[in-house]
Amino acid sequence: MAGLIPQNFIDDLLNRVDIVDVIDAYTTLKKAGKNYKGLCPFHQEKTPSFSVEPDKQFYYCFGCGAGGNALGFLMNYENMDYVEAIEKLASQMGMEVPREESNDALRSREKNQVLFEVLEQSCRYYQTQLRKHPDKTRAVEYLKSRGLSGEIARDFALGYAPPGWSNLLESIGTNEPLKKALINAGMLIENPDNKQHPLYDRFRDRIIYPIRDNRGRIIAFGGRVLGDDKPKYLNSPETPVFHKGEELYGLYEARKNTRKLEKILIVEGYMDVIALAQNDITYSVATLGTATSTSHLRRLFKLVPEVVFCFDGDDAGREAAWRALEQALPLMEDGRTARFLFLPDGADPDTEVRKIGKSAFVKNMNEATQLAEYFFQSLGKQVDMNSLEGRARLGRMALPHIEKVPKGIYHQLMLDQLSTITGVALQTLAGMEKTPDSGRKLDTIPVRSKPPVRKSPAGRSVCMRAVNLILLKPGVAADLEHSDLAAIESPDMDLLLQVVTLAKKHPASTTPELLGRIYATPLGSQLTQLLNREQITPTEGIEQEFNDIIGHLLKAHHHKLSHHSWIEQARQKLDSRRNTGNSEAPGEENTPDQG
Ligand code: UTP
Ligand code: MN
Repeated sequence: MAGLIPQNFIDDLLNRVDIVDVIDAYTTLKKAGKNYKGLCPFHQEKTPSFSVEPDKQFYYCFGCGAGGNALGFLMNYENMDYVEAIEKLASQMGMEVPREESNDALRSREKNQVLFEVLEQSCRYYQTQLRKHPDKTRAVEYLKSRGLSGEIARDFALGYAPPGWSNLLESIGTNEPLKKALINAGMLIENPDNKQHPLYDRFRDRIIYPIRDNRGRIIAFGGRVLGDDKPKYLNSPETPVFHKGEELYGLYEARKNTRKLEKILIVEGYMDVIALAQNDITYSVATLGTATSTSHLRRLFKLVPEVVFCFDGDDAGREAAWRALEQALPLMEDGRTARFLFLPDGADPDTEVRKIGKSAFVKNMNEATQLAEYFFQSLGKQVDMNSLEGRARLGRMALPHIEKVPKGIYHQLMLDQLSTITGVALQTLAGMEKTPDSGRKLDTIPVRSKPPVRKSPAGRSVCMRAVNLILLKPGVAADLEHSDLAAIESPDMDLLLQVVTLAKKHPASTTPELLGRIYATPLGSQLTQLLNREQITPTEGIEQEFNDIIGHLLKAHHHKLSHHSWIEQARQKLDSRRNTGNSEAPGEENTPDQG
């Protein structure tokens, strides 16, 4: 179980680690004074602007603005989350990461243990009924009619909940604590209004599909009617051990029954998973009546490099496919594949695999449309690809999605393809990504042959330039009066004020130190992004330029103020004249200001 990592362990780890060693494994560092310099591993460069300070245990790149401590470096470079980075550093140091369990966690683990036990017992009970109950023939015949063998029924631990209100209650709920546990596990329903059955079995006269977690523990059940009654399926409710939106039916079985798990097929229904397994396709899973989420996919991609989504060939299927695609985009790291398999209208994987057989089904699966292809196909259908406007619209729709794909070859290939399709130069497309002020107005970008229009970096606000200068030399803001600036309305003034405050607090800081103080805060990531965009090089005259900018801002502000006050005086004069001249028109004062 993953508990919390104690803070003192993290402190200890960071004390023992030397950031120079950590980073030297990725880029060669050379000593320069008390620091180390090297080529920045985060961007392409020919002369080193990447610096590591052993004193501060901090790195910083003057070229691209990347900066942080050893954990931050691994998080950025290896695309790890915080915990993963800690684990990696610890293993390099030969340290074991301890986990602490809070008292609450301990108590809830004990409580859950009881639920797991009654769920396991329930499962065994239902399996026994499928073999022994006087009514078992109906259930067995039903399963046979669906083409299932006894072996498959066993692999998936299928069972039968016989008719009646209190079978499970009487067999397993033999004392109060067990009854309580069965209620908490969702197996019994409590209803004081029901005089005959104030407490009764949830599943009655249904085929039972146990749902297991990663470790094979039973956490819930699905129950299907034997005929065409409604509702077709009943499922366990949310319980402390069952969170419907996170589980995948069949995942445990797929891992257990597939010799080498290389891909996973995602389908819709319990019966699809089972029928596929019956036809020797043992690696499918189903969400539990919910859409496939990014967290589902994250789990699957930890196990296999390829997922295949299987959908009906109708409109609902296509809609579901697009939603699945959106969930998959942020996970499309290099080396991963996602495919979309569309079945003929009216078919589901269960009927389809029985109709065409295993090998034809597998062939279709292996040839199923790749994510990028499906992406451009779907968007292409929504626009007129023969017109400039249509292609521009496609570009505009596509970019925000492509931005979600992690930077890498796959990301690049998608941009390439967008460029080929729309006729917009690749460089222009790349420049339009993640640049808020570009507004992604692809239809204002000339399509084909005309040169791209781009805002020059110099067009950024003077406040931003001032922010940059402070970052280069925090001392320049030391004497600045905060209140002078606060009144000025200017884009990015908020950011400038925040940085001024920061720099005034630590005027003697170097750039890396300053960034180090706000690393992993929203402000920190905003500034890192800013530095990523703006090419900054430390030069002479920082102070001069900074003072010029502030002087310019103040002057412009005062000019505006005096202009304002002149207008204000004129307006007041006019108002007072109106009020004395025409007291009959009170409504006039309420007319919206024409500003
Ligand atoms: P399907 O109706 O496609 O299920 O619903 P299926 O497994 O193919 O069922 P068969 O073939 O008719 O036996 C897909 C999934 O939606 C959820 C279940 O998880 C089901 O497997 N569902 C469906 C419910 O939860 N309740 C329902 O009443 C219907
Ligand atoms: Mn079905």
